Amino acid sequence: MAEQSLQTLGEFLIEKQDDFQYSTGEFSRLLSAIRLASKVVNREVNKAGIADIIGVAGKTNIQGEAQQKLDVLANEIFITALSQREVVCGIASEENDDYIEIKSAANGHLSKYVVLIDPLDGSSNIDVNVSVGTIFSIYRRVTEPGNPVELKDFLQKGSAQIAAGYVVYGSSTMIVYTTGNGVNGFTLDPSLGTYYLSHPKMQFPSEGKIYSVNEGNYIKFPQGVKNYLKYCQMMEGDRPYTSRYIGSLVSDFHRNMIKGGIYLYPSYANAPNGKLRLLYECNPMAFIAEQAGGKASNGFERIMDIEPTELHQRVPFFCGSRTMVEKAEEFMRMDAVKD
Ligand code: AHG
Ligand code: MN
Ligand code: MN
Repeated sequence: MAEQSLQTLGEFLIEKQDDFQYSTGEFSRLLSAIRLASKVVNREVNKAGIADIIGVAGKTNIQGEAQQKLDVLANEIFITALSQREVVCGIASEENDDYIEIKSAANGHLSKYVVLIDPLDGSSNIDVNVSVGTIFSIYRRVTEPGNPVELKDFLQKGSAQIAAGYVVYGSSTMIVYTTGNGVNGFTLDPSLGTYYLSHPKMQFPSEGKIYSVNEGNYIKFPQGVKNYLKYCQMMEGDRPYTSRYIGSLVSDFHRNMIKGGIYLYPSYANAPNGKLRLLYECNPMAFIAEQAGGKASNGFERIMDIEPTELHQRVPFFCGSRTMVEKAEEFMRMDAVKD
């Protein structure tokens, strides 16, 4: 790419501000806070191998300082950035049982936005130097500004999201997000600490050859999922597909969006809703998937149409290239009819 054509994330945010229906400086400041926090988390992730940072929360390190697991640290970094800049009225995080109310010193509870976040996704991969991520979802509050935020501000359907994105701390660090006008990806130049637009208008290929699932759970999966996996492995047409599973939703999704593929985290015996969380894992990824021409479903219905009832609710997740998700749904329906 020619030097002069490089656009930074900061420039992009300013240019796109007017395209965004609720555009005020406040929303751009919110995304800037996320951008800044992601750079701090990136620094911590990069030094995880050499710093005394990996450990069990609550233990002390050699200097007698309290050690923090990286997911706890990432949580603090995002909450600090968002609350100090006073750009949200509430935050719900995987790492906190309840939502956090943010009251700005300047204007009380006037902020319009709430953020839901998985500060470090795939955190078990940190210890083995494999990519991890951050996932975020942004809504306009439904209660009146000026009052404390309420649970119902967070329990909104995914279709009400006004923005969602993820950061992948990989062989290079990227931030990928949507405000409902397509999906754009920005790569961090670590020497400058600047994100540049590297993946404009990202699109899921409508077909793919990759399926991503924890196949160790095969025996516990519903029959429809078992049948679909057998279909993926069948010698016919462009099959068998390739199996790729990192165990970080962000990284698995990112690869599948670029190459074409499906990610599945179905229900399994004793876990009727699977493992992944609706509000800060599945909804934001579903919004990005749909904005990139892909699809996200619980096997039967659109993820973003599910009415949430709890902050940490789980949901089966089938997400990726449109025709692949449709095929998986077909297998789920066939099995449901037999029951
Ligand atoms: P988190 O690290 O935020 O708890 O999320 C881990 C999630 C997700 O990223 C990943 O796809 C999935 O858990 C992996 O689960 P299994 O180890 O059960 O396959
Ligand atoms: Mn996660
Ligand atoms: Mn997490």
